[in-house]
Amino acid sequence: MDGISVDYDGLIPNNVGLADDPRLKKALETWHPGYIEWWKDMGPEGFQDALVYLRTAVSVDPQGWAKFGFVKMPDYKWGVLLAPAVPGRTIPFGKHKGEPAWQEVPGEYRAMLRRLIVIQGDTEPASVEQQRHLGATAPSLYDLRNLFQVNVEEGRHLWAMVYLLQKYFGTQGREEAEELLHRRSGHQDNPRMLGAFNERTPDWLSFFMFTTFTDRDGKMQLAALAQSAFDPLSRTCRFMLTEEAHHMFVGETGVARIVEKTCEVMRRHGVSDPAAVRALGAIDLPLIQRKINLHYSLTLDLFGNEISTNAANAFNSGIKGRYREDKLTDDHQLLDATYPVMRCIDGQIVEQQVPALSALNMRLRDDFISDTIGGVGRWNKVIERAGLDFRLSLPHQAHNRHIGEFAGIETDPDGNILTAEEWAARRDKFLPTAADAAFIATLMQPVHKVGEYASWIAPPKTGIDGKPGDYEYVKIFE
Ligand SMILES: [Fe+2]
Ligand SMILES: [Fe+2]
Repeated sequence: MDGISVDYDGLIPNNVGLADDPRLKKALETWHPGYIEWWKDMGPEGFQDALVYLRTAVSVDPQGWAKFGFVKMPDYKWGVLLAPAVPGRTIPFGKHKGEPAWQEVPGEYRAMLRRLIVIQGDTEPASVEQQRHLGATAPSLYDLRNLFQVNVEEGRHLWAMVYLLQKYFGTQGREEAEELLHRRSGHQDNPRMLGAFNERTPDWLSFFMFTTFTDRDGKMQLAALAQSAFDPLSRTCRFMLTEEAHHMFVGETGVARIVEKTCEVMRRHGVSDPAAVRALGAIDLPLIQRKINLHYSLTLDLFGNEISTNAANAFNSGIKGRYREDKLTDDHQLLDATYPVMRCIDGQIVEQQVPALSALNMRLRDDFISDTIGGVGRWNKVIERAGLDFRLSLPHQAHNRHIGEFAGIETDPDGNILTAEEWAARRDKFLPTAADAAFIATLMQPVHKVGEYASWIAPPKTGIDGKPGDYEYVKIFE
């Protein structure tokens, strides 16, 4: 095997030489029926017999890695794909910097690595579960196809993590791989591991916000793990990032199309009052802002505590690097470096220099924020082009937080600290309300006619794979 093209002969497509590793092959084939059962139980509701125009990875070559075609989702070729090995790769950071990357798991880091892989793995099926009801209310066939593309790829990301667990972590790895199929998003007794992955994704605005913000957290985490000294993890994450880009595209352009439609309605009818916008079947901009506040703050929580010994240990040992570690120009060990962290001290928000090693979660969160700002800028361009004054923005990092420095305080979206009474009185201005959700629910009517789009969203500028917006992306047999 050249490590680039994918072997499609067996049950499990792969470029990891599965045919030559009978023990692993057997473990994955044993896991496979449970996965399909999980997909049928917890994957997209309905549409399992529909033909969906999906891309499937046929190679890990950055040029032309995917092939498009109509597939029934349960027949999707989930598999194990690693980015090509970099010959002579060395560990880019931490105390082992410059040593050869590990092809096996060092005993002393086994527990830490396993935990990171399980946490990453858990988010993948979780998001599929969160999104499983959305097919019923898709605003177009184009959007329906994009939802399913995201879903099957999150399923493949689960395969990617399960491969690592099965191949490198023995009995415990196999047990963890089983558990990944048994936890359930939002379940009382057996929930998914991270907060944002137990929230509901009840409607398409939530879906687009989730794929904009929360999939971008995924990108940052994968990018940090792609730097790992454990080479199989690095290669796995590098290929996952190729797929992840599409998920954020779906989210960001989805919100942009909603904003575009709203602006068009506002201009055409000369209205700006939210009630008037809603009466015309569009989603008012203040509600979009409240959704941003919610999804952004939930996603910031995913980065964990600003100051963290776990993060320092993961970096020191070479397991999890920084975003674009290989492009940074410092000593990659950070023993004497400091980093500014926003903290809550005596009820005030202050910036403090702390040892850079303990501030790595904060740093990754900062990288996430810079990456996110561009998307909000593009949404504002849409509003600007429509000649309207409204601007969307990201709330302050302390707003609506439940993990880390700001968990104990409440602030408005500008970061002004509020008393409990002020928060209670103003909360509904900042975050989506039950009435907002009820209004959005009224818009969630499926549009399954070829080339038609729901009232609240503009068609895309271009379709998928060079196809037009009025292509029959999903063939539904009813
Ligand atoms: Fe993913
Ligand atoms: Fe994703």
